[in-house]
Amino acid sequence: MKILVVGSGGREHAICWKIAQSPKAEKIYCAPGNAGIEEYAECVPIGAMEFEKLAAFAKENAIDLTVVGMDDPLVGGIVDVFEKEGLRIFGPRANAAILEGSKAFSKDLMKKYGIPTAAYENFDDPEKALAYLETADFPIVLKADGLALGKGVLICNNLEEAKAGVQTIMLDKQFGAAGNQMVIEEFMTGREVSVLSFVDGDTIRIMTSSQDHKRALDGDQGLNTGGMGTFSPSPFYTKEVDEFCKKYIYQPSVDAMKKEGRTFKGIIFFGLMLTEDGPRVLEYNARFGDPETQVVLPRMKNDIVEVFEACIDGTLDQIQLEFEDNAAVCVVLASDGYPVKYEKGFKIHGLEKFKDTDGYYVFHAGTKFDADGDIVTNGGRVLGVTAKGKDLKEARANAYKATEWIDFANKYMRHDIGHAIDEA
Ligand code: AMP
Ligand code: GLY
Repeated sequence: MKILVVGSGGREHAICWKIAQSPKAEKIYCAPGNAGIEEYAECVPIGAMEFEKLAAFAKENAIDLTVVGMDDPLVGGIVDVFEKEGLRIFGPRANAAILEGSKAFSKDLMKKYGIPTAAYENFDDPEKALAYLETADFPIVLKADGLALGKGVLICNNLEEAKAGVQTIMLDKQFGAAGNQMVIEEFMTGREVSVLSFVDGDTIRIMTSSQDHKRALDGDQGLNTGGMGTFSPSPFYTKEVDEFCKKYIYQPSVDAMKKEGRTFKGIIFFGLMLTEDGPRVLEYNARFGDPETQVVLPRMKNDIVEVFEACIDGTLDQIQLEFEDNAAVCVVLASDGYPVKYEKGFKIHGLEKFKDTDGYYVFHAGTKFDADGDIVTNGGRVLGVTAKGKDLKEARANAYKATEWIDFANKYMRHDIGHAIDEA
């Protein structure tokens, strides 16, 4: 098969790497890709939002399957465009990707179908939001309705902060049209867990659990980022939690989408919080997580192309997912100053060491080839260094050892990825 992957980050690198292991994959393309992805796929200079160009490319090159990594194209309707052209594509249509694209939609869905989540109200009028806040309990959480690169969530400790939050989201429109509507929801406490799943419209198959570290600085301090590191599995995702989620969250979410006439095919990523009162959904995403994918896929035993095809064909009930009985940790190497201001274009040394070392992976997030053909930094998040181990502690030690193999100017990383492992 000829397979096209849409996206350019560490997640897409991990997806391409995994596809490359499938005996079904003859040729892989990635649009637009990055310098690391080149090892497995031919990179095509078409942007992820250029749907017509991507569809034309898929037709011209007789692509058998397209896989979309990113949220923006899914929410924007790339799947609808491809399907209209008779092209085979893995991912939800726009009417289902709304599960991630609108937080107001997802909250209403959960309320309607009794799926456990934080109590909330939706607002499209800033005056009403401000009036509501006058009598609210604090802390409280404000969320821009639409996609905001993971930055549209504000945790407000008092009325002042909340008023400023309404200003930021709904009046100053810091997140653009994503702030036309806003969700105000109850603040919850507990451990966070990411659970990715494959869905074929009816059947859902859960992948192994993981956890992301979203803050820029050690001790989970500093600004929110795209994710500074992950580990898998989560030691807090017990059998009991799994059983609860299977009964009250996973299948009910898939069934709810179908009942709404929004049949979901693709990946549902459940952002969960394990509260004292049980697991609650923090958010849904309609795609693989980044950098969750970089610790989940290296542990997956299945041929991922078979699973993608089963989702499209509605035969996922015939597949059981299998994961290795081990652990993986991913430490992101970023450019100093990320997520605010950082320099790019520095040569990266040490990448070759990963080629022959089993159980160690370097997934490129922001890299490119310079004029001399050398790989240089090209983003805030530069690389994700993943290592496996027999357990989480060993995987973490291995991942940190491997971060030392890499060198580039302004290299920055957190030194406490997986600290929760010691608290389990
Ligand atoms: P989201 O994009 O909805 O996952 O929110 C981003 C982050 O904000 C989450 O990973 C949590 O750390 C935090 N968060 C979101 N909603 C809540 C909530 N209701 N209570 C506490 N923290 C939250
Ligand atoms: N790592 C969080 C996300 O992909 O949304």
